[in-house]
Amino acid sequence: MVDGKKLKKQIIHIFKKHGLSNKHADIASSAIINAEIVGAHTHGLSRLKMYCDRIKKKVINSKPKIKIKKISQSISHIDANNSIGFVAADIGIKQAIINAKKTGIGLVGIKNSGHYGLSGYYAEQAVKKNLIVLCFTNAPPAVAPHGSRKKLFGTNPICFGSPTSSKTPFILDTSVSEINRGKIRVAAKTGKKIPAGVALDKFGKPTTDAKKALLGVQLPLGGFRGSGLAWMVDILSGVMTGANHGGKVKDPFDDFSGPQNVGHMFLTIKPNLFVGNFNEKIKQNIKRVKGLPKIKGVKEILYPGQNKQKRFKKNVNKKIYIPENIKNDLESLIAS
Ligand SMILES: NC(=O)c1ccc[n+]([C@@H]2O[C@H](COP(=O)([O-])OP(=O)(O)OC[C@H]3O[C@@H](n4cnc5c(N)ncnc54)[C@H](O)[C@@H]3O)[C@@H](O)[C@H]2O)c1
Repeated sequence: MVDGKKLKKQIIHIFKKHGLSNKHADIASSAIINAEIVGAHTHGLSRLKMYCDRIKKKVINSKPKIKIKKISQSISHIDANNSIGFVAADIGIKQAIINAKKTGIGLVGIKNSGHYGLSGYYAEQAVKKNLIVLCFTNAPPAVAPHGSRKKLFGTNPICFGSPTSSKTPFILDTSVSEINRGKIRVAAKTGKKIPAGVALDKFGKPTTDAKKALLGVQLPLGGFRGSGLAWMVDILSGVMTGANHGGKVKDPFDDFSGPQNVGHMFLTIKPNLFVGNFNEKIKQNIKRVKGLPKIKGVKEILYPGQNKQKRFKKNVNKKIYIPENIKNDLESLIAS
């Protein structure tokens, strides 16, 4: 177990040793620590070595010259110059917030980025500024389009955030695959089975073997519906922004032949554009849902994001558990 503040300092030190500026190292470390605190270990420390390997091999640019092109007061297009994804996304969401505060709506497309971790982390920034937000990112091939047995779409998360009039924001943040790929990677490492119905092996047969699933395909959420949503995210994040798309985003763990060129799209909206009393209305809306009769065994009907906020509150001041293999990675990255 390690103190979160001490761990953050260590990660900043590692990123700076790999050439990141103070500011970029701080942004990337904060995102990684946040993932650990909310229990998304598949998007936290377990990826640190991968980011460092990519910086060493120059497929993440440690000194990016990020360009923000203003298309209108509301719309910006960012070329992240192959920066670490956390930095591109941080600049992108901040720009989307500025644009929406000025005009009521902000749209930011980002190309030449990389894996940015949890979409909800960026959505929360916009919701804290009292905005509704949608975040999209594409990702390397994992999911077979409906009817295919070849992977092409990423697990392409869709994230929607809204203020709720309480301190806990509504953050729906979900992969469009049955489960996120990180969970399959962890199961493959630890020799655990994955649930039935989430993946096929390379021959197109259902499998619960994580290693076979990684070589095969993941199944989209809800069949053709999830496949359509994955495609939509690829169009918004990849086709529209000028990033890679259509199965061309490189896998950050396995493909060092060049930068990933991931694309992101952020949309921010003032909640009171059409009605003056949004706060009152959202309060009523949530109250009605939560007041419904519950299924046996369910104590409370939760809205998306509530569970994550509970984990954050529970863990934020606790020490962070680091598994042995990751401890070894950290020690060798500090020593290298
Ligand atoms: N950057 C990338 O390439 C990439 C790719 C895929 C996923 N991700 C990230 O991985 C993270 C995990 O994704 P996931 O698909 O495993 O999410 P998940 O299945 O853990 O949760 C999906 C959503 O369901 C909500 N939820 C969970 N239990 C609930 C309940 N009982 N009642 C109401 N709502 C509930 C959660 O709050 C969340 O909004 C996300 O933050 C996502 O952005 C990133």
